[in-house]
Amino acid sequence: MPETAERHSSSADPLKARIAVITGANRGIGFALANALAAAGCHLAITSRTAANAESAAEKLSVHATRILPLQCDVREELAVARIFEAVKADFGHIDILINNAGHSHAALPIERLSIDVWQQTLATNLTGTFLCTRAALPLMRKGSTIVNNISIVAYQTFPNSAAYIASKAGVLAFTNALREELRGRGIRVMSLVAGATDTDIWQQFWPEAPREKMMSPSDVTSVVVAALRMPPEASVEEIKILPTVGKL
Ligand SMILES: NC(=O)c1ccc[n+]([C@@H]2O[C@H](COP(=O)([O-])OP(=O)(O)OC[C@H]3O[C@@H](n4cnc5c(N)ncnc54)[C@H](OP(=O)(O)O)[C@@H]3O)[C@@H](O)[C@H]2O)c1
Repeated sequence: MPETAERHSSSADPLKARIAVITGANRGIGFALANALAAAGCHLAITSRTAANAESAAEKLSVHATRILPLQCDVREELAVARIFEAVKADFGHIDILINNAGHSHAALPIERLSIDVWQQTLATNLTGTFLCTRAALPLMRKGSTIVNNISIVAYQTFPNSAAYIASKAGVLAFTNALREELRGRGIRVMSLVAGATDTDIWQQFWPEAPREKMMSPSDVTSVVVAALRMPPEASVEEIKILPTVGKL
């Protein structure tokens, strides 16, 4: 189709009345994404591991005139994941945007002191959780929908004492690349979110004294994701890379 004024003339926000599911949306980057998407007119299903935290986030988001469905889910648990997507199907019927955001890091430890439990829980949350949510969401997604996986710059730039987190995120990057190729034919876009240091609670887990003033804010990260989601369906921002101006902290 040639470039025409008509092709670019619509003033309607493409995010208005879309259905988005965001895991780990009660705080941090997930909550900022939920807030921005609700402000753009999306209806949301948001999750936390704790029902009360999901409900309190939904209460904060109720300033926006959209529907917010709070759900309790630990993304490590296959049955819990299946249950939330059944609830999304019952409430909304389909999903336009899935954001696999839920994530967990671990205390800074050299590999020889890393326990099997920390290793397995980190991979279960970040890698298996992304797989489980994606697999459960796909039957509800159609041509024109989008999956965003919140990875991290650590999938490319590593540092000592966070091996389980780094390995899990490198795994999510590989999973995301595989997913994108599988879904091209169905017209479903798959975006990798590759963000650097962002000022959220996750830093308490491995570097509580980190210099927060050098980090990005969750809304910095959110604004580029929202811009990518507004791209027309024939264009996909396959990787969103956003870093603090200082680079590595
Ligand atoms: N902050 C950064 O510098 C940065 C940079 C790049 C990428 N990221 C990624 O961004 C994502 C969000 O992290 P954040 O920085 O916003 O940290 P955060 O404030 O600690 O938020 C983490 C979110 O993940 C949820 N979560 C953790 N484990 C879960 C599990 N097993 N099942 C379900 N939900 C779970 C938490 O829910 P509960 O409150 O219920 O525990 C919370 O909503 C993560 O994937 C992280 O790796 C962060």
